[in-house]
Amino acid sequence: MTVILETKDVHLAYGQKEALHGIDLSFADNSITALIGPSGCGKSTFLRCLNRMNDLIPDTTITGSFQFHQQDIYAPTTNLVELRKKIGMVFQQPNPFPFSVYDNVTYGLKLTGQTDRRFLDEQVERALKQAAVWNEVKDDLDKNAMSFSGGQQQRICIARLLAVQPDIILLDEPTSALDPISSAQIESTLMTLKKDYCIIIVTHNLQQASRIADQTAFMLNGDLIEFDLTSKMFTQPAQQATSDYLNGKFG
Ligand SMILES: Nc1ncnc2c1ncn2[C@@H]1O[C@H](COP(=O)(O)OP(=O)(O)O)[C@@H](O)[C@H]1O
Ligand SMILES: [Mg+2]
Repeated sequence: MTVILETKDVHLAYGQKEALHGIDLSFADNSITALIGPSGCGKSTFLRCLNRMNDLIPDTTITGSFQFHQQDIYAPTTNLVELRKKIGMVFQQPNPFPFSVYDNVTYGLKLTGQTDRRFLDEQVERALKQAAVWNEVKDDLDKNAMSFSGGQQQRICIARLLAVQPDIILLDEPTSALDPISSAQIESTLMTLKKDYCIIIVTHNLQQASRIADQTAFMLNGDLIEFDLTSKMFTQPAQQATSDYLNGKFG
């Protein structure tokens, strides 16, 4: 496995209040990393740093280093549109655009000026297949994406992101608004996708982390407490706080 994204000493403050107190993490290609920890510990904040979504929140101060391949994510020359194509994000609530499945999946490609119908058709099929939703929508590509089930919408959103050939997929509690069957489908989709991508998932579902993640990072109150192979952390955590959290002593 090759590390493609590495953060060092990441601090983030909302106004005067520091929410991340120095986070060092590294993420490898072809793997799934889970970020776990109680509500409010900074998981989403950290995840948003990785494709500069926190830039949209006024009065945030971010320091530390973010190396993506050989690039500094926070360099003034970074093109944010390109960055967010390479490092795409999926949210808790599926958020397809209120137009057809086809137009959702081709949205990013059309923004880059792609108009070749055959190329677009091929990419739609590829992305929807990769997101494991092709069979369910292939006869309804003209239908409004919002008319599908929550789980299907979430996989359409994953396809929309895959269409622009990302390197890294960020997911912030992508199954917490879904029923168990849809959640299981997303998990199995992610297990397949990790063969080709670096996947970073925030989850408060410990079973989900243990099922799908190669590495897990445990955060608490803005600190990274422990980062290890999931199999190791869940059986032999190095820190008492990790053990207490995994055993449900606090939530
Ligand atoms: N936009 C924001 N403005 C101010 N404070 C925020 C904002 N977003 C999150 N926070 C605060 O930062 C801390 C971490 O929040 P968050 O990253 O959402 O945690 P998690 O995703 O682990 O539940 C919390 O104390 C939260 O209240
Ligand atoms: Mg969150």
